[in-house]
Amino acid sequence: MSKIKKITCIGAGYVGGPTMSVIAQKNPNIDITVVDLNQARIAAWNDENLENLPVYEPGLDAVVQEARGRNLFFSTDVNKAIAEADMIFISVNTPTKTYGKGKGQAADLKYIELCARQIAEVATSDKIVVEKSTLPVRTAEALKSILDHTGNGVNFHILSNPEFLAEGTAITDLHNPDRVLIGGENAEAIEALVQVYEAWVPRERILTTNLWSSELSKLVANAFLAQRVSSINAISELCEATGANVDEVSKAIGQDSRIGSKFLKASVGFGGSCFQKDILNLVYIARSYNLREVADYWEQVILLNDHQKTRFAEKIIQTMYNTVNGKHIGFLGWAFKKDTNDTRESAAIYVADHLLAEEATVVVYDPKVTAEQIYRDLDYLGTRSPEDNRRLVRVVNDPYEALAGAHAAAVLTEWDEFKTYDWTRIKADMKRPSFVFDGRKLLNRSELESQGFAYYAIGE
Ligand code: NAD
Ligand code: UDX
Repeated sequence: MSKIKKITCIGAGYVGGPTMSVIAQKNPNIDITVVDLNQARIAAWNDENLENLPVYEPGLDAVVQEARGRNLFFSTDVNKAIAEADMIFISVNTPTKTYGKGKGQAADLKYIELCARQIAEVATSDKIVVEKSTLPVRTAEALKSILDHTGNGVNFHILSNPEFLAEGTAITDLHNPDRVLIGGENAEAIEALVQVYEAWVPRERILTTNLWSSELSKLVANAFLAQRVSSINAISELCEATGANVDEVSKAIGQDSRIGSKFLKASVGFGGSCFQKDILNLVYIARSYNLREVADYWEQVILLNDHQKTRFAEKIIQTMYNTVNGKHIGFLGWAFKKDTNDTRESAAIYVADHLLAEEATVVVYDPKVTAEQIYRDLDYLGTRSPEDNRRLVRVVNDPYEALAGAHAAAVLTEWDEFKTYDWTRIKADMKRPSFVFDGRKLLNRSELESQGFAYYAIGE
């Protein structure tokens, strides 16, 4: 197979956009077109002002600036991009199903299937089709069947190339990946994709496997990572009951090189578009093979995470004399982690929902999340009317305003800037007693206590 000259990526989201930007940056001789049905998103990717890119990631603007217009293009003309490409990445969303069989657990593959049908219909030359989206194991089989049965007689080779970037560090993760995983059956197709990555990734970090190992490894990687967070969060509750400190426990166990120190930070609960969705999917797959114990084991990671979010909200209510009705709670952070504007499955949404059910007033400040997004997240839950969400929740652009007159501050995201605030000024403007509930263990207990705050942190 000759060298790849044109790549198309279907899906210009949090994965497609940054991933293709870096592939284009590192392969100036390959033309890359990222396409999406969402016109507003494509317009934002093409915006002259790099502050308007649809995804906020540190360092992304510089990469886009370097490659865009040179060999990186964003377009809504999906058919043209499919027709011209030698290699097509599918990087569309694969959310949890909200209807029918597997509702609430299985991955919804309708967007993937639509892409496959469109590729089959449009393609008049051989293509390598790369699964970039996270997919249930054995999806490639279904893709292959659709491509081969609805196509124009051209050859398709399917590869699985799951993405391991984390949001907030997407560009450094892409520039310096622990590994790149490529699963496939056709050696030439695999080699073609290896060459794309070899432009900057050392060969020994590019792993090649069979299709099913690659598809499954992605789900398993996320399950293992999420499991560590749920494990330390379970211990955080035990720490609170026993007087141990979860940070000290994390450090003590993390120094054992067999355990390792990363991903042991107790928190209000993991969020993000991947962990919950992918574990639910793993659980669903295990159940569909009748592996009940395996399914129950992994499901517990999600149940514990739900418990952690509820526990944090309940702690706020209990500490504030068992009622938050009419009380003003200032939220610092709404994104599911720092350095991203992504709020999907953010713990903040669920903690807010719990407090709003008790008629609290929530005032939110997040440096990167818009008011529209915050209301959309709450409306999506459907717990109360959009009017009630707007009556009970206010979104402000200034952290001091979020906390002025507040009965309590709650830290939901670990943005660095929260550590640099003038907490003496905040204290002077808050009601007394002034509570701080730190869901990220971000602030300095002794400093806050010396200023008269009543400070609660997870796991202490
Ligand atoms: P996203 O929702 O941000 O982006 C997906 C995009 O695909 C959307 O803009 C949507 O309009 C577009 N799309 C859907 N169907 C289309 C079609 N038929 N034609 C053209 N465009 C279409 O999703 P994301 O966060 O980028 O995730 C994409 C995949 O990558 C998912 O499977 C996810 O599990 C996986 N993943 C995500 C992350 C992450 O950090 N977000 C990390 C690793 C893997
Ligand atoms: C995750 C995986 O890390 C990445 O490899 C995969 O490609 C996509 O899913 P992401 O969800 O973007 O990435 O962020 P991650 O850093 O994994 O954090 C997920 C959630 O866990 C966040 O809410 C984060 O705050 C939380 N977390 C993480 C903790 O609470 N404690 C930790 O120690 C680590």
